[in-house]
Amino acid sequence: MTILVTGSAGFIGANFVIDWLSEMDETVISLDKLTYAGNLNNLSEVEEDERHIFVNGDIGDSILIDRLLLIYKPRAVVNFAAESHVDRSIHEPEAFLQTNVIGTFRLLESSRRYYGELNEKDKRNFRFLHVSTDEVYGSLDADSPASAETESFQPNNPYSASKASSDHLVRAYYHTYDLPALTTNCSNNYGPYQFPEKLIPLVIHNAMAHKPLPIYGDGLQIRDWLYVGDHCEAIRMVLDEGSCGEVYNIGGLNEKANIEVVRLLCDILNELHPVSRNASITSYHDLITFVEDRPGHDRRYAIDASKIVAELGWHPAKSFTTSIQKTVEWYLNNQEWVEQVINGDYHQWIERQYA
Ligand code: NAD
Ligand code: TYD
Repeated sequence: MTILVTGSAGFIGANFVIDWLSEMDETVISLDKLTYAGNLNNLSEVEEDERHIFVNGDIGDSILIDRLLLIYKPRAVVNFAAESHVDRSIHEPEAFLQTNVIGTFRLLESSRRYYGELNEKDKRNFRFLHVSTDEVYGSLDADSPASAETESFQPNNPYSASKASSDHLVRAYYHTYDLPALTTNCSNNYGPYQFPEKLIPLVIHNAMAHKPLPIYGDGLQIRDWLYVGDHCEAIRMVLDEGSCGEVYNIGGLNEKANIEVVRLLCDILNELHPVSRNASITSYHDLITFVEDRPGHDRRYAIDASKIVAELGWHPAKSFTTSIQKTVEWYLNNQEWVEQVINGDYHQWIERQYA
C-alpha cells in the first residue's frame, strides 16, 4: 500500500513522513516543490529507506500529479503543501493564492479523476486528507469559547483566507463529487525541522547569535501550541478512523501569550546554554525586543479539540513543558541543520521584515 504526501520537505510534512515510515509498513510518495521552506535535509533520516520515493514537483502540475496517481496508485493523498507564513502573505499574497487555492483545486481535480477510475474496493479505502489551520476561524476575544468545527470562517489575513478557500473546496468536492475527503484544522505546531522564520525557531536561532528576539506589539497575542509529533499521530488516526466529509480540529490544549512562550524559551536556553561571562548580555531575556505589530494581527486563536478526543481517543502525548524542552534541545543539537536551511533568501527576508 502507498500514500502520496505533498509538502513533504516542509516542517510538518517531513515530520509526518519520518513518523509514518517508523510506524507503518507502507511506501510514501513524497512530493514537494522545494520552495524556500522546503528542504531535502529535513528528510535525510529517511533518505536510505526504500519505502520513501521523493518527487520534486508542484501540486498545481496536473500532468505530474495524474501520472504519479496512475503509476503508484496510492490509497490516500495527504496534502500539507502550502505557503504557510502569515508575514510573507502580507507582503506577497499571490503565491498563497497560487498554491493554497489553485494548487489545492488542481490536486483535488486529479484526485477526483483518479478516484473515479478505481474499483469499488479501492474506492472504499481511498482518502483525501487536507491539512489546514485554526486561523480560518479568525480572532477570538479573551473570554470567547474556543473554536469548534462548526464555527463559521472569519479569516483575517491573506494566508488564512487562502487556507479557508482551500477548506471550502475540499468540502465541496466531498459534497458534489463524493470524493472521500477529510479536513484537519490544527493550531500552531512546534518541534524539529521548523523553518526559522516562525516564532519558536526564530527566537532560538536569534538567541544563539545574541540578536534581538522580536515581539510583535505588546506580545499578549494568544496561540495554542501543538507538538508536531502529536499532530502527526492525530493525522494518522484521522486517516485511519475519521469519517469522510468531516472536519477534525487538532489542538495542543495549551494556550499561551507570545511573550510567555518567549520568556520560557529564554529560561530553557539560560539553563541549557548559559550566556558566557564575557558576553554583552547576562541573560537571553536581555534580548527581548518589542517591535512594530503585524498588520491585522489576530489577538487570540483557541481550538476546541473535543471532537477528535471523544471520537478518535486522541490527545497530546506529553505536556508543553516536556515537548518545548525537547524542541529547544533539538535546535541546540542541530545548529548545522539551521545553518544549512537558511540561505540568501532567508537573510533578505529577515532584513525586509525586521529592518
Ligand atoms: P512549511 O512552509 O514548513 O512547508 C510547506 C511545504 O510545502 C514546503 O516544503 C514547500 O516547499 C512545499 N510547497 C509549497 N508550495 C508547494 C507546491 N505548490 N507544490 C508542492 N509543494 C509545495 O509549512 P508547515 O508548517 O509544514 O505546514 C504544513 C501544512 O500545515 C500547511 O498546509 C499549513 O497551512 C498547515 N498548518 C501549519 C501550522 C504550523 O504551525 N506550522 C499550523 C496550522 C496548519
Ligand atoms: P508565527 O510563528 O509566525 O505563527 P502564526 O502567525 O501562524 O501564528 O507567529 C506566532 C505568533 O508569534 C504570532 O502571534 C506572531 C508572533 N510573532 C512575533 O511576535 N514575533 C516574530 O518575530 C514572529 C515571527 C511571530
